Amino acid sequence: MAKERLGVLCSGRGTDLQSIIDAIGRGEVAGEIAVVLADREGAYALTRAREAGIPAACIDRKAYERRELFEEALIAALEEAGVTLVVLAGFMRILTPLFVRHFTGRILNIHPALLPSFPGAHAHRDVLAYGVKVSGCTVHFVDEGTDSGPIILQAAVPVLDGDTEETLGARVLEQEHILYPKAIQLYCEGKLRVEGRHVRIIE
Ligand code: GAR
Repeated sequence: MAKERLGVLCSGRGTDLQSIIDAIGRGEVAGEIAVVLADREGAYALTRAREAGIPAACIDRKAYERRELFEEALIAALEEAGVTLVVLAGFMRILTPLFVRHFTGRILNIHPALLPSFPGAHAHRDVLAYGVKVSGCTVHFVDEGTDSGPIILQAAVPVLDGDTEETLGARVLEQEHILYPKAIQLYCEGKLRVEGRHVRIIE
């Protein structure tokens, strides 16, 4: 079976990206990263990609008047690189149906909370404000909603008294770095079956 060609989209420091690069290096993910794209200049994820010898480019959202034009540029770059699976790794933009339909069933995201609780861009802040005792992370397929697609894997961590967004974020991130490579490997091995909202893992 041909290896999946991953296109990783990032906005920031890229530790989730790094965990995928490292897992591929250890032979734990049977795919290859074809390209890393960031939506803003200065995203440290681009440096990580280049240090690992992976093609990387900035497609700056600010350079495009409309979201659709930005997404068309993303699609063109991903197609140019022969990407078969899009991996959102700290990509802080909502994708429109234009993008999602182009890669239907072939986009994964990791969210730093236990969905369907606390979707959106400020999960840790919302978790702490609400007062829940457990949080975590979720890997899911991307559909046309926000953080609403079928769930592949989740991991839980405790929320501790005195936690800040930083301390909780660091605890969750540790789990993200284990969970995302695992979920990507399940996809690469063809072990995921989506049945409505349910993702079955075929062993
Ligand atoms: C991660 O915690 C990821 O779950 C989150 O951004 C962080 C990226 O960290 N993603 C979202 O909030 C998506 N809405 P990183 O840049 O170090 O990989």
